[in-house]
Formats: sequence, C-alpha cells, structure tokens
Amino acid sequence: MISKIQSRIEEYIKEIKTANNHNELNSIKINTLGKNGIIKNLLKDVLDREYDDDVKKNAFDYINKVKQQITQMILKKKTEIDDFIQNSKINLEYIDVTLPVKNNNIGTRHILSSMVEKIRKYFIFRGFDVVDGPEIDREFYNFDALNIKKTHPARQSCDTFYIHDDWLLRTQTSTMQIRELSKKTLPVKMVSIGRVFRCDSVDSTHSPIFTQMECLVAGRDPICIGNLRHELINFLSFIFDNKNIDIRFRTSYFPFVEPGMEVDCLYNGSWLEIGGAGIVHPNVFSNCGIDGKVYGFAFGLGIERIVMIKNNINDIRFLYDTDVRILRGLSL
Ligand code: DAH
Repeated sequence: MISKIQSRIEEYIKEIKTANNHNELNSIKINTLGKNGIIKNLLKDVLDREYDDDVKKNAFDYINKVKQQITQMILKKKTEIDDFIQNSKINLEYIDVTLPVKNNNIGTRHILSSMVEKIRKYFIFRGFDVVDGPEIDREFYNFDALNIKKTHPARQSCDTFYIHDDWLLRTQTSTMQIRELSKKTLPVKMVSIGRVFRCDSVDSTHSPIFTQMECLVAGRDPICIGNLRHELINFLSFIFDNKNIDIRFRTSYFPFVEPGMEVDCLYNGSWLEIGGAGIVHPNVFSNCGIDGKVYGFAFGLGIERIVMIKNNINDIRFLYDTDVRILRGLSL
C-alpha cells in the first residue's frame, strides 16, 4: 500500500519543487496536508485496516515523516516565492542613475535663472565684483544711507514689508551700494543681483517678489553720464544680442542719485522702460564714511522686465508659473 502511495507522494514533492506561485503551492497544500488530502487519507486508511501493531506503527511513522517533510518543503517554497516577488519588486523599482535620459525629458535652467547667470558672467568677465547681500535688511541700508528721507512715501508700511523694529525685506538691491561703499575701498565696480520685496498686488507687470540687478561704479576719478550711458549701452547690447541697441534717459527722481533718470531701451522699434539710473548723490558717499572728491554712477534694472522683453512674454506671472514652454526654456 505504502509503495503505491510513495510514487504519488514523490509526484507531489516534485510539484512543490517546481511550483511558481502561491496559488499552485496552495492547491498542493490542500491536496497533501488538507482535510481530504493524501496524508489524512493515508492515516485513515491505515487506521481502518487490520494490520499488525508493528506494521501500523511503521506506517504511521512513515506517514508522519512524509507529513513533516511536505510541511517543511511547502514552507520553504513559500518563502522562496515571497522572496522572488519581493526581489522582482525591488528590481522594478531600482533606478539606474547611469541610464541616459530621453532627450525630450531633459530639464533646463529657468529663463529667469539663465538671465541672472548671463548677467553675472558678463560682469565678472568685465572685472566687476558680483556680490550677494541679505534679503532681510535694516532701514539704514534700504533707506537712510541711500538718502531716502524719513517722510518718503516708499517707507510706508503699505509699500514695504517690515519685520520688526527697523528690520525689513529689502525693497531694492540698491542696499548693496551701501554695503560695498561702506568697505571704503575705492574704486568700486560692483553688480548685485537678487530678490526684492514690495507690497504690490499681483498683475501682469507686478509681483510682490521680483529680481533686480544693481550696478555701481565709483572712485576718485571723474565719472559722468557719458560713462553711465556707455556702460548701459554695452550691457544691453549684450543682453539683447543686438549690437545696435539704443537707450534714452528721462529725468526722474531717486534720492540716491543726482541727476536721476529712468532708462528706456529701443527694442524691436519701440521704447521700453527698463529701470533707473543716475550719478551717485554725494550724501550716499558721506553716509558710507567716504569723504573728499568722489564720483560714481549707478543703475538698477528689473530682471523679469528684461526677460519678458527678450522672450516676448507679456505677463510676469508666466515667469513664476508652471507653463512647460517656459520651464523648457522656450519662448511663448
Ligand atoms: N532702486 C531703484 C528702484 O528699485 C532703481 C534705481 C534707480 C537704482 C536709480 C539705481 C539708480 O541704482 O541709480 O526703483
């Protein structure tokens, strides 16, 4: 009887070894160890028959050994299958960092950041110090030292984000003129690019946070508006990839320059306002502890404005949004 069963058991053992998944393994388990499985039937069979005690004992021993063997094999196979599933998952989730990226999915620098980079490189190449300064600054750097009177409307809390006491979010990168001049090492040739903050409501040309660049050239040698004009024309020609760029000055008032002006740039046949400029006011030098004859020019431009003009973007919000055309560095 046992020899007849033996071959069936061997079949099952083979099946366990080759089982590929939990379903297969489960049905083998039911067929062998289950209520109606081969082991239970064998035991019943031996019990029901008229064998000698010795024979019965041997048969039970054998059947129990087989039961143990099958139980262990099934358990072992179950962990093998579990491991296999787990490893396949891990392999699927594995990120091959050496795999080349598909061309159309390559990220690019944002056009605003590329412009900042382009400006930085231009000025570094021309021997300027390109400096960074704090976005959270004091009234002294943002207003007082820049000759902006206590009563100037720009100081009001409806225009400026005050933090506490005399601490504020800088409203202009002109703060960096003061930080650099205060080092009292002339001549100064500096450019600073960074974010500025104003209590403006958002519309197509305004954002409460935007990017400005500040340029200051100062020293003991005379400097005139011609130098300022020359610097601006060269710079804008480079930025707008156009050697024949033209600019025009409109008189304006900024307390830290005298004369002060607004700068327009002739681009694609029309005059566009791009920022402010002027000859540094003597009070700015004395506020920084620089005495005697000293000359300087300064200008400040909005980077978003330049990027918008160059890329034909008519709404500043595009620059902070997620339109993929912008994110891929394309024009609209
Ligand atoms: N800081 C000014 C602003 O934010 C812009 C400006 C005007 C900067 C004249 C200058 C300047 O350096 O000379 O409106």
